[in-house]
Amino acid sequence: MTRGLRSIAETSLEAQLISALSSREERGIRRRLPEPSTFSCTSGLIDFNSNDYLSLASSPTLRDRLLSKLRDAPDILGSGGSRLLVNGQAHSALEARLAQFFGSPAAILFNSGFDANVGFFSCVPQIGDVVVYDEYIHASVHDGIRTSRARDAQYPFEHNSIPKFRTLLTKLLDDRPELKTGQSSLFVAVESLYSMDGTFAPLVELVQTLDEFFPQKNGYLVVDEAHSTGIYGPQGRGRVAQLGLESKVLARLHTFGKALAASGGKCSVILTSPLIRDYLLNYARSLIYTTSLSFANIIAADSSFDMLMDGTAQQLSKKVLDLSRYFVGELRQRLRDVPLKLLSLPVDLQRSSLPSPIIPIMTTRPRPLSAHLLTLGMNARPITWPTVPKGKDRVRVCLHAGNTRSDVDRLIEGMMQWVEGEQVAEICAAENGGHVVQSKL
Ligand SMILES: Cc1ncc(COP(=O)(O)O)c(C=O)c1O
Repeated sequence: MTRGLRSIAETSLEAQLISALSSREERGIRRRLPEPSTFSCTSGLIDFNSNDYLSLASSPTLRDRLLSKLRDAPDILGSGGSRLLVNGQAHSALEARLAQFFGSPAAILFNSGFDANVGFFSCVPQIGDVVVYDEYIHASVHDGIRTSRARDAQYPFEHNSIPKFRTLLTKLLDDRPELKTGQSSLFVAVESLYSMDGTFAPLVELVQTLDEFFPQKNGYLVVDEAHSTGIYGPQGRGRVAQLGLESKVLARLHTFGKALAASGGKCSVILTSPLIRDYLLNYARSLIYTTSLSFANIIAADSSFDMLMDGTAQQLSKKVLDLSRYFVGELRQRLRDVPLKLLSLPVDLQRSSLPSPIIPIMTTRPRPLSAHLLTLGMNARPITWPTVPKGKDRVRVCLHAGNTRSDVDRLIEGMMQWVEGEQVAEICAAENGGHVVQSKL
């Protein structure tokens, strides 16, 4: 029986839950909370794991700004209830500030990026509408679609493949005359930067394709900018703004809990039209039936947002993207003679000229590699199925503005040391007639 589970189930429910967890254990995919000691703030490990890409979580400027705003604020604690029932003046003021900064007609806050995606996709698509999504789209979009009126009309397309996207649209338009006449709508869900792959959605091509296939303007693009907020575009306004596509996108999601380190909350904002804002206020259950963000959360998001406005984020993003270019360049050289299955960079990443702070290191043995790096004082986490597709296990490296070239050199050395250990183990195994000897590294 599995570690931590009671060996005898007392009820049928317990038996089923234990069986599911045991099955995950046997397949090596059981999730566990990481040991608190693996986090840099408590253990001094080099952080190659968190989404704090701009290292703002440890910024003294942000901290001072936040503390000073908290000191001066009339209200800090709680918010009192749902946004629809309590004083949301602070929330509305932040929304107005965000809408103006991002060049959007309207903005609406959600308690998290997860809630925002669930809220939007669960209510905006109407009966007869269709939702198509990149196969790597975030779980929260799936959860939204699943409870929407379009739940029986959802279709994935191959990650970032415009040819596959076109084929799918052609088929849907053939099968559904209402899409052709403009009586129903098609929504496309993508992430501007994919969190597990570091790949970028081809936003320009997606927009062009929708314009071509939907002359009635009933094909809508919805872009999740959770991982590109603060990093791309003027003042960190995201990829949509970088590409000047604001007017071509129905809704954009920006989150404050990742690069913007909004302490104490995961505030997020959907930038969209006043009509959709109004509709969300009326129908998005993850907005209506929940206590709205506390005043402290709003102040934290507002303080983080100052770092976008004053140009700090842009400076820091340059730092992290330069580091990413350096890391990928150096690692690519070192991986030349390493078997792909042991360690490799994904092909998409090698092709892309735009750097990203997220760099997946593909390996069939992500857990041992991550464990090895941990022994060397570095935290880069293994990512396995079901978070990523089967056969695409990896160690995901997230770089930060606070990481240095010497940190990154250390990471590369650590990986190469592990590769050598694995190769030695393989040779020994071959000499032992296939009997696998575990690497000592
Ligand atoms: C692409 C994407 N969208 C949405 C979310 C959810 O955002 P939040 O952490 O604010 O709930 C995440 C975070 O896990 C994400 O990676």
